[in-house]
Formats: sequence, structure tokens, C-alpha cells
Amino acid sequence: MIQFLLNQELRSEHALDPNLTVLNYLRDHVGKPGTKEGCASGDCGACTVVVGELQTDDDGREHIRYRSLNSCLTFVSSLHGKQLISVEDLKHKGELHSVQKAMVECHGSQCGFCTPGFVMSLFALQKNSDAPDHAKAHEALAGNLCRCTGYRPILEAAEQSCCAKQPDQFDAREADTIARLKAIAPTDIGELNSGDKRCLVPLTVADLADLYDAYPQARLLAGGTDLALEVTQFHRTLPVMIYVGNVAEMKRIDRFDDRLEIGAATALSDCYEALNAEYPDFGELLHRFASLQIRNQGTLGGNIGNASPIGDSPPLLIALGAQIVLCKGETRRTLALEDYFIDYRVTARQESEFIEKIIVPRASAEKLFRAYKISKRLDDDISAVCAAFNIRLENGVVAEARVAFGGMAAIPKRAAACEAALLGAPFNNATVERACAALGEDFTPLSDFRASKEYRLLSAQNLLRKYFIELQTPHIETRVTAYV
Ligand SMILES: Cc1cc2nc3c(=O)[nH]c(=O)nc-3n(C[C@H](O)[C@H](O)[C@H](O)COP(=O)(O)OP(=O)(O)OC[C@H]3O[C@@H](n4cnc5c(N)ncnc54)[C@H](O)[C@@H]3O)c2cc1C
Ligand code: FES
Ligand code: FES
Repeated sequence: MIQFLLNQELRSEHALDPNLTVLNYLRDHVGKPGTKEGCASGDCGACTVVVGELQTDDDGREHIRYRSLNSCLTFVSSLHGKQLISVEDLKHKGELHSVQKAMVECHGSQCGFCTPGFVMSLFALQKNSDAPDHAKAHEALAGNLCRCTGYRPILEAAEQSCCAKQPDQFDAREADTIARLKAIAPTDIGELNSGDKRCLVPLTVADLADLYDAYPQARLLAGGTDLALEVTQFHRTLPVMIYVGNVAEMKRIDRFDDRLEIGAATALSDCYEALNAEYPDFGELLHRFASLQIRNQGTLGGNIGNASPIGDSPPLLIALGAQIVLCKGETRRTLALEDYFIDYRVTARQESEFIEKIIVPRASAEKLFRAYKISKRLDDDISAVCAAFNIRLENGVVAEARVAFGGMAAIPKRAAACEAALLGAPFNNATVERACAALGEDFTPLSDFRASKEYRLLSAQNLLRKYFIELQTPHIETRVTAYV
């Protein structure tokens, strides 16, 4: 059984198809059709809902953390122990919520199809910031598309509703909701089960390892932002899933003197602070990774686990020399991330083995790390090319070089010939040009709808040139890169 609060109502579910998304659950099972389906692929935000989770701050204060998610890519099993809030829950005692009033007063809606999604993103924004600046509002809304109104009135609504925010019914009930969430906090493995389909929800790494051993054919479900597409876009059925998002040990970030250890089930938005503090370019990339809804549910482990050649974090992690800890039963092994990717969607992961955590070296002043993402749009778009460079100089000579790319091969990959051209050479224009030429030996990229092979290779070379120029003139800030 799984249990969660549907706003204030306790829901206990057992006999549900685990392939059921929260969107379809709300619309078809609960009779709440306010949440809309636009794309069913995480791109439009019409299905945005807010999920509340109990959180304890460092000072011991308990509160509910509200986050926007795309309900079209969220399976019901992942609600276990949480609070689900949909657009129907905002109006209270006959009064619109302040974010809804702001949308009305700022003329933020025309046909209205996108409006519930915008309202829920605004609600999450209001809950998470006292006086959002333009950048925060933009970030909160970048995953919501509107085809008629235009974004200016909606951004105005964001400003209005968050600057003069009034306590609402959720604030008034917070203590009660915390008590109710504590009362349903999972204590054992949860399960959704319908016929021969099941999703298991372990709470510990040990239970996850046992379950994966017992069900080696299971698909691991983290944020579901990739996996759910198999159901919503390809109309497949996933007969057995194991949800890793309730395994607390895999949602932790531990800081050591020389490294960060990031649990594989840590949401991308939770990785931001730690990675941005070490490597501002990693933070910049995470800002450009999908939308806030996707970053709130998608995980770092899932971004590696899906082994996509255009996944954004792997090239950066490879250039940083990151490792992953793989767990199978009681056995653990540590692998350099670059050795994890073998061929297109083929990895070194064995049957019943899962990524437990990612080990990222801490920043050092000597290492010159930069990363760049090229995509057609700045927000919510997948890379055509993603590049990461990390070199160490000794007296102007390249003493260490790690260069990695996404979008250039069937896997995220180091550029061995390029690195060889850099190593031991003075870091100057001539060396960089030789290293650019070597990229032609490293990669034979493909042409697809994102970019042609010629564009990809030229972009990769130009990014290396850009890296070189930036290091000569560190005051130039050119990291944010979107070319149409
Ligand atoms: C609209 C949209 C925009 C996107 N934009 C970007 C983008 O800009 N950049 C980018 O890189 N990606 C992007 N993605 C892809 C996706 O969001 C990311 O890859 C995300 O990190 C996947 O994480 P997840 O937790 O949702 O993975 P899931 O979908 O839960 O899982 C993905 C795969 O990894 C496996 N897996 C999950 N956890 C583990 C584990 N611990 N051990 C082993 N295997 C595991 C799963 O079994 C599955 O095969 C986008 C997706 C969407 C829908
Ligand atoms: S329906 Fe478009 S993001 Fe979910
Ligand atoms: S108001 Fe019509 S799509 Fe936004």
C-alpha cells in the first residue's frame, strides 16, 4: 500500500496500475480535471502540480517544502508519504488564491488551457521566495508554455503575487499537515500492485538491493522524467518498477575535504547549491537543464542511468574526474564515470546493480574548469553539444587535461586526441588550434534535428577556443550559450 495526502484528504492506494501517472489519477480516478494534459512529455507545464514534503532544517525546524512537478511524468507510487496539491485546492472559502487573483488582475489568461499549470508554478514560487526577482520568476515559469497570452502579463502576476504575499490556508494548516505527514511517514516497503504489474517503494539501500536482486527485470524509477516517457510517448507498459526516490541514503549530499558524495536519487534542483558552490559553471548548466519542474523531480543518478549521449551532467562529471559507486546485493564497486558508458545506451552496469552515489572531487584553484551547453533555446532545451574542459597549468604548460563532450558521439566521451594535443604543450593559440584539429580525430558526430554533424564539430572546436579566450580574459562572462 502507499499513502499520501491529496491536499488534506488521506489516500491509501494499493490496487492501482503503477503505470498510472498523477495526471491521469487526478483526472480519471479522483474527478479533478483542472490539471491539463498538453504534451504528456514534460515540455508544456499544463499538468503542473505541487508536491509537499516534510523537511527538517539544520536548526531542527520542521516545515513543508513545496515543489512544482509535471504530473504527466510522475507515477502515483512516487507520492508515498507526501502531499499532492492540484489547482482545485487553491480556492478557499469561495475566494481565489492570491496567485489566481494576480493572474486575473494582470490579464494573464486567455483561452485558459495553460492557466492551471501557470497558477501551480506561481503557487510554488510564492511558497519558495519572499520577494522574487525577475530571474526567479523567469526560472519558475520557464517550464510553462502559453500559446495565446504572451508572457509579460504572467510575469507581472508573478511579481504581484509574490511581492505582496498573504498567509494562505496552507500556512494556517501547516502544523496540522506536518502532523499528518508524520503520521503517514513510510516505515516499510510500499507497493502499488495491479495484477502482474507492481511498483515497489523501498526505504533503504539494503532493501533496494534485495528487491533488485529478487526482481532483476525491474526498471528503476527515480524522477521518472525519462522513464515515464516510455509509458506516455511510446505507450509501453512497465510491469515491474522499483522507486528509489524514498531511499533517504540516496538523497543525501555529504561533503568531505576532497570530495562531494551525492546520492544518486538527489533531485537536480537539490544538487544545485553544492555543485554551484564548487563549480559555478555546473550551477549555470543546471539552470539551463530542462525546466524547474523537471529539475525538481529528475535526479543526478537518473541523468547518468539513462546513458543518453546528450545527457548534460555526464560530460561535466567526466571532465571533473567523477566516480560512481555501484551497488549489487552487499557488494559495492567504484568506477570512473567515463568507464560506465560503453556504447549507445550500453553501460557497465550489471544485472541488479544500481548507482548508489556519485563522487565529485572538490574544486581546487589550480584546476581550470569550464562548461558550455549549446541548445536552440536558452531554457528547457536539450543540448546539441555540451562541452566541459578541466586543465591544470604549470608555468604556462598544460600539466593535466580532461576534456569531455556530450552530443558528439554515441556516449558522453573524453576527447583523447584533443587532450594529447594539449598535454605538455604551452597553453597558447597554436596549441589550442592543434587541439581543435584533434577533435576531428576524436569525434564523427551525427546529423539530426538538433544540429548537423558539421555544426557539432565546429561548435566543439569553437567552444575550446572560447575556453582558451575566457581563461586569458577571466573578466569576460560568456558561459551562457544559446545559439539558434
Ligand atoms: C522536458 C524534458 C527536458 C529535459 N531536458 C534535459 C536537459 O536539458 N538535459 C538533460 O541532460 N536531460 C534532460 N532531460 C532528461 C531527464 O530529465 C534527465 O535525464 C534526468 O536527469 C533523468 O532523471 P530521472 O530521475 O527523472 O530518471 P528516470 O526517468 O527515473 O530514470 C532514467 C533511467 O535511469 C535509470 N536509473 C534511475 N536511477 C538509477 C540508479 N540509481 N541506478 C541506475 N539506474 C538508474 C532508470 O531505470 C531509467 O532507465 C529532459 C527530460 C524532459 C522530459
Ligand atoms: S502535459 Fe505538458 S508537461 Fe505535462
Ligand atoms: S491562455 Fe491559451 S495557452 Fe495560455
